[in-house]
Amino acid sequence: MTSGSDDYRDAGLGFPHDFVLGSATASYQIEGAWDEDGRGPSIWDTFSKTPGRVVNGDTGDVASDHYHRLDEDLDVMKNLGLEAYRFSISWPRIQPSGKGPINAAGIDFYSRLVDGLLARGIRPIATLYHWDLPQPLEDAGGWPNRDTAFRFAEYAAIVGEALGDRVHTWTTLNEPWCSAYLGYAAGAHAPGRSSGADALAAVHHLNLGHGLALQALRSVVSNNAQFSVTLNFHVIRPGSIGSDEAVRRIDALANRAFTGPMLRGAYPDDLIDDTRKITDWSFVLPGDLETINQPIDILGVNYYSTTTVQMWDGRKARQTADGHKDAGGTPWPGSEMVEFIQQPGPYTSMGWNIAPEGLEDLLLDLHRQFPAQPLMITENGAAFEDELVEGAVHDVKRIDYLRRHFTAAHRAMQRGVDLRGYLVWSLMDNFEWAYGYTKRFGIVYVDYTTLKRTVKDSGHWFSELVQSRRIPE
Ligand code: FCB
Repeated sequence: MTSGSDDYRDAGLGFPHDFVLGSATASYQIEGAWDEDGRGPSIWDTFSKTPGRVVNGDTGDVASDHYHRLDEDLDVMKNLGLEAYRFSISWPRIQPSGKGPINAAGIDFYSRLVDGLLARGIRPIATLYHWDLPQPLEDAGGWPNRDTAFRFAEYAAIVGEALGDRVHTWTTLNEPWCSAYLGYAAGAHAPGRSSGADALAAVHHLNLGHGLALQALRSVVSNNAQFSVTLNFHVIRPGSIGSDEAVRRIDALANRAFTGPMLRGAYPDDLIDDTRKITDWSFVLPGDLETINQPIDILGVNYYSTTTVQMWDGRKARQTADGHKDAGGTPWPGSEMVEFIQQPGPYTSMGWNIAPEGLEDLLLDLHRQFPAQPLMITENGAAFEDELVEGAVHDVKRIDYLRRHFTAAHRAMQRGVDLRGYLVWSLMDNFEWAYGYTKRFGIVYVDYTTLKRTVKDSGHWFSELVQSRRIPE
């Protein structure tokens, strides 16, 4: 075996046979067909159609047109040799008004997707919520409103009834950090609100929704499915001034606000202290923490880059390089005095720094904190300026990014981390939220004029990795 080198480009590393290799997408980012077959509006329809919210005024109306190209996309996955596919279910396709009547056409679409995966030998990993809240639920208060958590459990039971004989792994939420803080405090994501108090209430109701949905799913599924949640952990590095305090505060808001209740059964005391001027946390009712704190089979880890923080000394302009589109608000309620410092490069075209060692550190840290908890990388990947030339996309930078992050994952496993799989973000180019179609993350290229799919070089490379179970040369 090649000994570890610092550039994370070790040669010849192999993965065990039961290590699951696949890719991921999300409903609003790929499906399109926004008003077809009974689908109701989601907060992302409203947000993307509000001028100034998304780059170029892009919307998910057509997206990658996956809704109409299901079979073609399933064949793409099969040809790549994927072992697992992580997709999300659009709540407003299942319940157009967020509660009550079920839209049979919505169930049918996901049923065909799951059957199509199984027919091709691909493991279905279904996320219930990847940010497309039915608009009527936002109109009723959204995630800051406690009732939304109960509506989410009702929706989970409906989907669990319909697909609970075939889905291999259920994921309740994708990145509740983004839903709560980018959606309700920073205003950078739907629904575009900017209230720290609302964001913290949203944190709790997302956590509660996770617990209630797990209970609902467990009571209806008929196979021996696995249950999970996916979090976007912040790997936080110290800058200089007051760094310990800055790291602690951001770790509390970003990471422990979710792992605390979900995996330990309590909110961290320091999180509650840090935010006391904004909220008294009276939305946490007796019994909630027991509901939220349930065993999960897999903890999903999304990782892209690192974050460096320090306390602002007040004498110069505060830096806010936190990696998300600036919408005026802060995603860090109560910690506005923390500065987010520009990371050393190189960068992807998101401006996110490339730091494979951050992934290794994160996996080791999670393993240290939760030694008995199996982990899976549910998203990792990169946006670069891809060009389709004569039917090919030579995305060497993406291959290099993936190579180095696979190496990081391998090193973590060698050091004892129970890592069960790795899903590349993303199967295909798609609607990258507030950045619209300007950022391409796919290992499959989508021509947005013709909607034609072309496997990028990174797709071929990944395919080789899956087949050989070794990081290709
Ligand atoms: C994650 C999201 C995913 C995608 C990637 C780039 O935060 O879960 O939908 O946008 O970032």
